[in-house]
Amino acid sequence: MKLDMTNNLPLDQFINLALYDKDKGFYMKKNPFGEDGDFITAPNITRLFSEIIAIWTITFWKSIGSPKKFNLLELGAGNGEMMKVIDETLNNFPECSDACNFVIHEKSDFLVNAQKKNLSSKKFSWLKNIEKINSNPTIFLANEFFDAIPIKQFFKKKDGWFERFVNLSDPKKAEFKEEKIDIEKIEKHLNFEISKDQNVIEYSPDTFKYLKTISDLIQKK
Ligand SMILES: C[S@@+](CC[C@H](N)C(=O)[O-])C[C@H]1O[C@@H](n2cnc3c(N)ncnc32)[C@H](O)[C@@H]1O
Repeated sequence: MKLDMTNNLPLDQFINLALYDKDKGFYMKKNPFGEDGDFITAPNITRLFSEIIAIWTITFWKSIGSPKKFNLLELGAGNGEMMKVIDETLNNFPECSDACNFVIHEKSDFLVNAQKKNLSSKKFSWLKNIEKINSNPTIFLANEFFDAIPIKQFFKKKDGWFERFVNLSDPKKAEFKEEKIDIEKIEKHLNFEISKDQNVIEYSPDTFKYLKTISDLIQKK
């Protein structure tokens, strides 16, 4: 992405760029997971984690009446390890496995390719827009997804609320900058009083959007 270096970027846009810029984004060029990467997540430490999620999935599927068809939709699947083990575990429970439509929502094309290598079965499909999921009941899974979504930061000072920006006018010396904002306008838009009893707020607009979409989908079913 080409930046206008005179601009201040709100923190969430800066994080989005750092993670998903086509050329330099953290998740766009190399595998970040495991010993050769930068961090590790539960599914990549032990398959027990994903097996437990699989057992929970079966129990939940039963609790909603064992529908003949349901979607198991994972948000942000990393290298696909969790879905791989869930599929293997569900194979021991054919009734549930046959009913299950495995779907992945993943932002990084690099990781989609890694997932496709790890999940060779035709059972899996990828969905860019989760609103387009079919009308069957959907079980949503997300491990370390919501904490990977960019945030905004707001600080309360004597003269009001300020938002944190990243000033990139000197790319070798990026600096935080703060600008006054109207918190009530944001709260009105959200219909949620995020500043109540707070001095510092971390707020993720994209998380709110995801939660709204997911709850609308659940309510529709
Ligand atoms: C911290 S990793 C966790 C990966 C995996 N769930 C695990 O536990 O190993 C976050 C994952 O969410 C994906 N992700 C983050 N924001 C996303 C978004 N808005 N839409 C889809 N995927 C996203 C990342 O590309 C990555 O695959």
